[in-house]
Formats: sequence, C-alpha cells, structure tokens
Amino acid sequence: MIRLDDITYIRLGTPDLALAEDFATRVLGLEVTERTAKSLYLRSDARAHTLCYVAGDPADQTAAFEVADAAELEAAAASLEALGHRVSAGTAGGAAERKVKDFIAFDDPSGNRIELVLKPEYRGPRYVGARDAAITGFNHIGLNSTDPVRDEIFWTRVCNARVSDRIGDIPLMRINAIHHTLALVRAAGPGIQHINHQVAERGDVLRNYHLLRRNNVPIVFGPGRHPTSGANFIYFRGPDGMVFEYSCGVDEIKDEASHRPRSFSFEPASLCMWGARPGGLIKGA
Ligand SMILES: [Fe+2]
Repeated sequence: MIRLDDITYIRLGTPDLALAEDFATRVLGLEVTERTAKSLYLRSDARAHTLCYVAGDPADQTAAFEVADAAELEAAAASLEALGHRVSAGTAGGAAERKVKDFIAFDDPSGNRIELVLKPEYRGPRYVGARDAAITGFNHIGLNSTDPVRDEIFWTRVCNARVSDRIGDIPLMRINAIHHTLALVRAAGPGIQHINHQVAERGDVLRNYHLLRRNNVPIVFGPGRHPTSGANFIYFRGPDGMVFEYSCGVDEIKDEASHRPRSFSFEPASLCMWGARPGGLIKGA
C-alpha cells in the first residue's frame, strides 16, 4: 500500500509564461517564489511552491504527492513496477527543479502523470499573495479519468485513498482528514480537471467572485455550495483552459472507522445545493 501524506504541487506546461504569471498573481493571488528562463514557481502556503508553470506543451500536466520517507518511496516504486507501471527514478537535477529531496514518476491507469516526492522544501516567511485573495493553501485537485471505477480501485487499493462520497461514478477521495484531496472525473483522456485553493471564509469566495467578474475571467460554476463536502465554491478558467477553484468550509472526516461514503445521484443538484449549474465543468452534469 502506497501511503500518500499530502498533495504537494502541480506542474503545468504553458506556451506563454508571462500570461500565466499575470493570471497567477494579479487574478489568482499566488506568490512568485522564483522565475527561471523556463519555469515560474508559485506558492499558496508554507511550502516553497505548490504550482509550477513550465514553458512547453499545456497538455503536460503533473500532480505530485508527498510520501513519508525514502523507504516508502522505494517500496512505492517496487509495487508500481510489480503492477506493470513504468516508473522513472528522479534525477538530482529533476529533484532540484521540483524543490524536493527525491522523487519518482509514473502514469496512473488513465495516463495521468503522477510524481511521488520526498521532503518538499518549505520556506520560513509566510505566504503573502500578490493580492489579497485570502488563500490559506493548495488543497485538492480533480483528475481526469477514462474509467473512474477502474481508477478508484487503483487509488484506493494500490494507494491509501479512501472514498468520502460519490457523485454518480465520481469518487471524492481523502488521503488524510480533509474530505477530499482527489476527485476522479470521467473524461476522454488524462489531465488535471481542476485545481483548488482554500480561502479563509465564505465572504472571501464571494469577494473573489466579484474580482473575477471585474477582470472578465470566465466563471465556470458557482458561486455555490457542495452538498458532499459542505464547501462554498467558485470555479473559473485560467490560462490554457485550466479550471481553478476557490473554496472554504470543507468537511473533515473525524472518525475513519465509522465513516460511510454516501452515493449522490449524477445531477447538477448533487454538485450544488444552491442551484448553480456546472456549465461544462463535468461532462453530462
Ligand atoms: Fe474542488
């Protein structure tokens, strides 16, 4: 069993680093920690970075998860290889680029590029966003899945993900107490479906919504409230079509032993209890 402790960062290819930086700072409210000729590092919490734009193809999207120690990383590589996944060991240069001690990379059953990392770098000074979006941290992602039933088995049996709730065949899965760190959403191919940052309170979701509107940022879904996690949310589109989300008030699963996943029907009301429609965010909903 591969024990994932937390989601660590997202790496996104982009043909236009300047445009990505403008959005990530002026709109999203992240803090630039480093620029190189080919990379832009952004943080949203105490870690040195939680999002990295890399000059290149926007189809190149990677999600990284932290594991506890070198033994855990080695065991993860061995169990993935035994299951037939091709595992690449990280080089020293690659680890430095990712601001981690070591890493491995592999594709999940849908072809999503996943990295398992060791000791991501933290920074002493607190995160200060480029604007006051009230972000409290990088929280979770939606991941494309060409077969959510198959991929749920991978994430829950090969890794330590647990299903908190389901909407149709979409599993919302936790790897710690937070209601979900990973959601699998049916799609034609691999990719990051959305990237979530938590904000301090419900008012910040609405305040950010008005800023997005003023900046003509396409709103995808919300403002609304998820019946599953209880979170207040707003989804919007950033560079290269990537969907970002601000939310707050997500439930925590306090008692692992007694929690039973609920099954919500696959319909808009299961995604928003206030009646917002998920305009294109989830195919068929
Ligand atoms: Fe989300």
